Amino acid sequence: MTEFILNGNPAKLDAPAEMPLLWALRDVANLTGTKFGCGLAQCGACTVHVDGNPTRACITPLGSVAGKRVTTIEGLGAGSAEHAVQRAWQELNVPQCGYCQAGQLMSAAALLARNPAPADADIDAAMAGNLCRCGTYVRIRAAIHRAAQ
Ligand code: FES
Repeated sequence: MTEFILNGNPAKLDAPAEMPLLWALRDVANLTGTKFGCGLAQCGACTVHVDGNPTRACITPLGSVAGKRVTTIEGLGAGSAEHAVQRAWQELNVPQCGYCQAGQLMSAAALLARNPAPADADIDAAMAGNLCRCGTYVRIRAAIHRAAQ
């Protein structure tokens, strides 16, 4: 049993401590917005926030988040209708197939939390670990600038 704060609420997940957080979120907590891409910390599709830091859920053992705050794409806009990045993503039609976009949004939100007015280079550095096979990178960068306004 691992106890932590999940999207702002106390959670207790009855799963092995060594289970990857990605599977605990998807299969135990039924939060399927966080995606499996590579399982090897290479693509960023599984990005969530742990205590506000972008974290790859596929290589993070569930037990390691005990007592911490975990935020998934489902909780990103908690407290308001949606997060600024989610609004900007919709306004600029960022997704193509959409599969990687939850991870992209989580990395973008973490960037804006620590740098409210990022330059292109800041965006490229922060987002470099999130791959998009549709190549939506130009729209992602534009949407991050839009969300920062
Ligand atoms: Fe975790 Fe690719 S699924 S980084």
